[in-house]
Amino acid sequence: MLVVTIGGSPSLRSRTGLLLDQAGRWLEQRGVERVHFDIHQFEPADLLLARFDSPAIRHFSEQVSHADGLIVGTPVYKASFAGALKVLLDLLPERALAHKVVLPIATGGTHAHMLAVDYALKPVLAALKAQETLQGVFATDNLIHYGEPARFEESLLERLDEALEQFVAALARRPAPIDPTVLNDRLIHARWSI
Ligand SMILES: Cc1cc2nc3c(=O)[nH]c(=O)nc-3n(C[C@H](O)[C@H](O)[C@H](O)COP(=O)(O)O)c2cc1C
Repeated sequence: MLVVTIGGSPSLRSRTGLLLDQAGRWLEQRGVERVHFDIHQFEPADLLLARFDSPAIRHFSEQVSHADGLIVGTPVYKASFAGALKVLLDLLPERALAHKVVLPIATGGTHAHMLAVDYALKPVLAALKAQETLQGVFATDNLIHYGEPARFEESLLERLDEALEQFVAALARRPAPIDPTVLNDRLIHARWSI
């Protein structure tokens, strides 16, 4: 099982990043393979000039295509998700999230914008044809403390654990995409089609 995590914060010191690290460790402890991408690892010009064919963007798209699920992390910026994450998602091909389960994770300064994931990020994930987008986890800044190691308020860890349990369960029940050759064969031999 492969999960791609995406860190969408423009800040190098990122609470979203800490939460994604925590989620990644949780998954790895349960034997789930994880590949992490962070918007910092892409050339700004690749993102801003929509260089679909840059090696880094192609590698990213390829890993996403192999993933069973994704965890998409973003800070709330101006009552929406980070624009830097949007330009990266814009470079994915059509239907890039078909057959995939997505868990959104967002951080913000205030609860007032906790619905930003629902009204801003989820429509983009739906446009990419995500099969299932889970409720997600929203954390205000006061629940995540920088340090070595970073510290999370217990209430947040509980919500994160529960969300990850649901994520793994959704991955497990995910119907496998039909192999195109098998689909072709079934179409040829079918007596009925609807
Ligand atoms: C440019 C900017 C805009 C922000 N806009 C909002 C906002 O509209 N609503 C909100 O709740 N928090 C807002 N915040 C606060 C961040 O969402 C919050 O501090 C978040 O934890 C930052 O995540 P990061 O550390 O991963 O970058 C904003 C922060 C910045 C830097």
